[in-house]
This record gives sequence, structure tokens and C-alpha cells, in this order.
Amino acid sequence: MVKHHVKDLNLAPQGKKRIEWADNDMPVLRKIRERFEKDQPLAGMRMSACLHVTAETANLARTLKAGGADLVLVASNPLSTQDDVAASLVKDYDISVFAIRGEDHKTYYEHIRTAIEHNPQITMDDGADLVSTLHAEYPDKLKNVKGSMEETTTGIIRLRAMHRDGALKIPVFAVNDAETKYLFDNRYGTGQSTVDGIIRATDFLVAGKKVVVAGYGWCGKGFAMRMKGMGANVIVTEVHPIRALEAAMDGFWVMPMSEAAKIGDLFVTITGDIHVIRKEHFERMKDGAIVANSGHFNVEINIDDLEALAKEKHENVRNNVDEYVLQDGRRIFLLAQGRLINLAAAEGHPASVMDMSFATQALTTEYALKNDLPVAVHDVPAEIENWISLAKLETMGIQIDELTEEQKQYLSSWEMGT
Ligand code: ADE
Repeated sequence: MVKHHVKDLNLAPQGKKRIEWADNDMPVLRKIRERFEKDQPLAGMRMSACLHVTAETANLARTLKAGGADLVLVASNPLSTQDDVAASLVKDYDISVFAIRGEDHKTYYEHIRTAIEHNPQITMDDGADLVSTLHAEYPDKLKNVKGSMEETTTGIIRLRAMHRDGALKIPVFAVNDAETKYLFDNRYGTGQSTVDGIIRATDFLVAGKKVVVAGYGWCGKGFAMRMKGMGANVIVTEVHPIRALEAAMDGFWVMPMSEAAKIGDLFVTITGDIHVIRKEHFERMKDGAIVANSGHFNVEINIDDLEALAKEKHENVRNNVDEYVLQDGRRIFLLAQGRLINLAAAEGHPASVMDMSFATQALTTEYALKNDLPVAVHDVPAEIENWISLAKLETMGIQIDELTEEQKQYLSSWEMGT
């Protein structure tokens, strides 16, 4: 059996069913897998991926393996691993997985080091923990790496900071910034799966509630839109003036968190930044306020501040809900220890949307291997995005128009005006 560290291989049958169920909704990735199986574009390539270990990721891993990759998969978050899926990947698909839901910080990084010690030529990250550890602790291995893919906004922010500091030593692809990724995964994926996680954790009725959304990037937009659709009064907090204006014109209340803190029933951070909800905000919240995070890292809510303010903490008053009782008796409920709620309390984004994200990952992997690229943060090539959009439309039974010759000429000329 392939090398692994998973919770329990006996969970494999359930995991296999979930992988196959997700595959039903991933037709574009399946099409790529069928071609990869025939053409073997990744033959013999050593690859390490640090992703949320879910049923959808399992189908990406199968696709990379079908293309010939020698793959090791580790978790990109200690709380997002689906243990049954991890077991099935090892047992049924012969893919090396090192990931256990709830693993501690030390084990999380041991797994990442195991992935790096696999000596990858290509890496894939969701949050840049693998690439940053590779640079910090294994500089001698950097020369083997032809390219790396990054899945999420937070990871891109870290990689661009590395590049600005001259610290980045390998070419990376900003998969998150592909339109086939963020327009759908960030907006509709995060939008829906964040609602799913909150409802599974709390049984919260959305209608009529005041929901505060911190951050109006693509993820925040998606979540705010869904909350509005379910009857909430949505308040957006932002630091970016254009986004704040956009939120206001999209019909949301916009105000500073210090004001929103007084009126919200539910607070959700989706900013990618640190300590967006902190002491001065907890101090103003109503009794029974619920606080959750859907950003990549568990830094958006200052949990130390909450711990310091509380006179009592009751863990797991419901699955994924901790109750903090403040000095004056007000209660604040923190969901999933401030970790990303959609993967900790639900199953992450639906397969149909991950189909496009992971199709983008698979095709960009092939591209990175074929091309010698300079050290930089690269965009996903437009032809990959076009192919994926057309393939997805086809699977949805949607046809679109083509430009006529006259239109092509018009669009490429400048002479014709008023
Ligand atoms: N990120 C968000 N949802 C996900 C999912 N279902 N699988 C992998 N990564 C994800």
C-alpha cells in the first residue's frame, strides 16, 4: 500500500461513495481525466499538493494520477479533512495521503514536510503553507520545482508579498485569479457553503436577522447575496472605498464594524486580513451574537481577545459551537474555533463549482510542466480559461453565439465611430 497517515482505512467505503457522488458533478474535470489517461502529460512527474482533503479534491488527485503524476496529498487546514475520503484515496486509488481531521499544529507541519521530502517538481497549494515552508526550510529543493499552483486569495497575497521581497524562487500560478475560479468558486461556492456551514452548526433562521459581512471581495459578495436572498438584513463592513461603494449600490447597509457590532445577530469575516473582529467589537455585541469566519486562516477573529473578555467558556454546546460568557453575562457563540466555517462545519463548496476550479488546476499543472517560466506570479493562460468555460457550458446544455466576420472586423478596427 502507498505511504500514508490517515485516521482509519476502514472508512474507505464511505469515502469512495462520496468521491463518486462528487464526480457526477465534475464533468469538465472528468473530460480532462479521460484525456490525461490517454496522453499521460504528467508521466513520472513528482508532485506534492497541499489542499483541503475533500471528495472534490479526491477527483482532482485522481485526475493528476491518471495523467501520470506521482502524487502526495496533504491537508491545507487542520479541520477540513474528510477522513473517509482520505482513507479511500489511499485504499481505493493508491494515492499517498497525509491528513487527519483535527490534527494538531505539529502534525499539520510534519505532513507538509513529508510532502516536501517527496522532492516535487510541481507543487499545488491552498493558502501557500507548502511553498512558504519549502522556501523557509528546504532552500536546496527549490531548484527541482518547475512551478506551483495557488488556489486561494490568501495564498496569492502571501506569494505576491514574497515576490516583492525578492524571496520567491519558483514560478507560481495565481489559479485563484483565473475568472474560471474566482467568479464561480469564490462567489457562488463560498456564498453557498458558508451559509451551509452556519446553518449546520447552529440551525440559524436567516429570515429577518441582521447579518454582518466583513469584506466585500468575491467571497463576501457571494455570501451577502445569498443572505439577502434568504431574507436577512445585510450589513457590509469594508476598508476599501470602491468595494464599500459597490456594496452600498448593491443595496447593502455599509458601516464600520464598531457600529455594526452593536446590531448584528450573526457576524461573518471573509476578508483575508487579521483581527477584523476584536475586543472593542466583542464589547459591543448583543447577547447571543454568533461569530464565524469564512476566510482562509483562523486569524480574522481575535479569539485571544474573546478568551480574555470571557469569565466562562463552554465548549461544544453544539457541534462546532463554543459559548463564551462575558463578565456582564452576555453570551457570544464562536463557530468552528474561528476556522473556515464552510469546510469545518459543512463539506466545502459543491462539486459543480469545484469542477471549474480543479479543471483550472489540472490544466495549469500540465502547462507549468510543459513551459519554462521565469520566477514570478503568473496568470493562468486565457486559452485554458476559455476551454474550461466552453466545456462547462456544454455540460450545462448551453450554447452561445459566435462573432460574425463583420463583428470580428468591427471589434478590431478603430475607424468607425458616430
Ligand atoms: N475549498 C472550498 N471548498 C472546497 C472543496 N469542496 N474541496 C476542496 N477545496 C475547497
